[in-house]
Amino acid sequence: MMRMTKVMQRSVEDLPLLEALDTENWSQDLSWIAPLFEQDQPGLARASWGDVVAYRNSDLTALRQHKDISHQRAADQTAPYREAGVPYPSLFEFFDYSTFTMQQPEHRPIKQLVSKPMSMQAVSVFREGFAGIVQDLLREACAADSIEFREQFAKPAVARFWALALDMPLDESVATVEAAGAAFEAFLLTGTAEQVLSADHGARIYIDTLTEALRRTNARGTSPFVAELMAGRDALGMDEETAIKHFAMTLLDGFNTTGAFLTTQVFALAEAGIQPASVEVDPFQFSTAAFLEASRLHPSVLLTMRQATADLVHDDVFLPSGTNIVCLWLAGNRDPEFFPDPLRFQLERDNRARQLTFGGGHYVCAGRNIVQSLSEVMVAEMVREAVTWEIESPVEWVPATLTHELGALPIRMRRG
Ligand code: HEM
Repeated sequence: MMRMTKVMQRSVEDLPLLEALDTENWSQDLSWIAPLFEQDQPGLARASWGDVVAYRNSDLTALRQHKDISHQRAADQTAPYREAGVPYPSLFEFFDYSTFTMQQPEHRPIKQLVSKPMSMQAVSVFREGFAGIVQDLLREACAADSIEFREQFAKPAVARFWALALDMPLDESVATVEAAGAAFEAFLLTGTAEQVLSADHGARIYIDTLTEALRRTNARGTSPFVAELMAGRDALGMDEETAIKHFAMTLLDGFNTTGAFLTTQVFALAEAGIQPASVEVDPFQFSTAAFLEASRLHPSVLLTMRQATADLVHDDVFLPSGTNIVCLWLAGNRDPEFFPDPLRFQLERDNRARQLTFGGGHYVCAGRNIVQSLSEVMVAEMVREAVTWEIESPVEWVPATLTHELGALPIRMRRG
């Protein structure tokens, strides 16, 4: 019986090759995803460089909470930067303090430390302030002929939000948004040495500007986020400097990906032909449904890496300890088994709990409440202001990266 089981087991080499990941524009043109689910036997696949690829919702749901699957080790995640042969001490500093490359038992207490300041309750304190920020930006946007939404609305909105929440000067928050965008180039899957260097430069400015601002805010005691962080570090017996560095690295997505998603949120509604001015239901009820559906169809993070920390078998495939797993969260959100007619933007859907936008398990996104809150407030204000909009020219998704974000969104907006 034991022998039978062994013979039935497949190895990583037996898995079908997912060729789409070798094309240049795989992260821009996502038309390769739907056919994955039309195969006779959808399931785990393999990338040409040897990693396992998970795209089915049921596989991702099982793997995201598997006890022997963790973040990818820092040494593996930073290998491409070392191979680029350039010095990049700032990116290494980023990975030293970020939870992104931590495994258990180190990961859990640090994750709790950095997540607690951003609980839904803590974030809700800033909803009113953010509504005021959105109103100001809406006035400016509607007075202009047209705007580029990411640069002229989403990024300033995010910078003003963090200036408020962390009680930091606006010019420093603006600089942190810019530096976070540059540092994010480190996550291009096929970055050139020049891009790695430029990302490293961005990481230096990001770390220095933000940690310095957090130190000053901490001394003044004026931000509930920073106060909560300090309460957590007291309990862990951690020094202030270390806690500030961990928190600053956690906020990289807060300064970059939040703006990317606010842009995608508007695009997803406009693409579906929905005008805020035509919404007849309660603005907040609408904005929650709009957030859930936009973040299902267009999650800002296309994939992240996980790694097996012990030998395991999943779906009859033997995954040796150390196997790297590409988790295609976006594909899981478009799996017709749970989301019928997946490319259709549909405000009411079953199976919201099966959405994989923010990964899941111990490693679930630490900033999901920030993005949800800001997106809901922004959309609700647009509904209240009876906004109408029109996308001005075709949009493009950013190429060759693990994020799913628009380079630009030229749009004309008017208030009712
Ligand atoms: C729409 C916007 C965002 C999306 C789609 C997103 C998505 C994700 C995903 C898929 C993961 C991996 C989860 C896993 O492996 O289970 C992740 C992790 C993480 N995200 Fe986000 N994220 C977003 C915004 C943010 C923001 C605003 C912040 C911070 C304020 C943030 C901080 C983090 C951190 C620190 C982790 C690592 C968590 C850990 O180490 O356990 N993210 N995010």
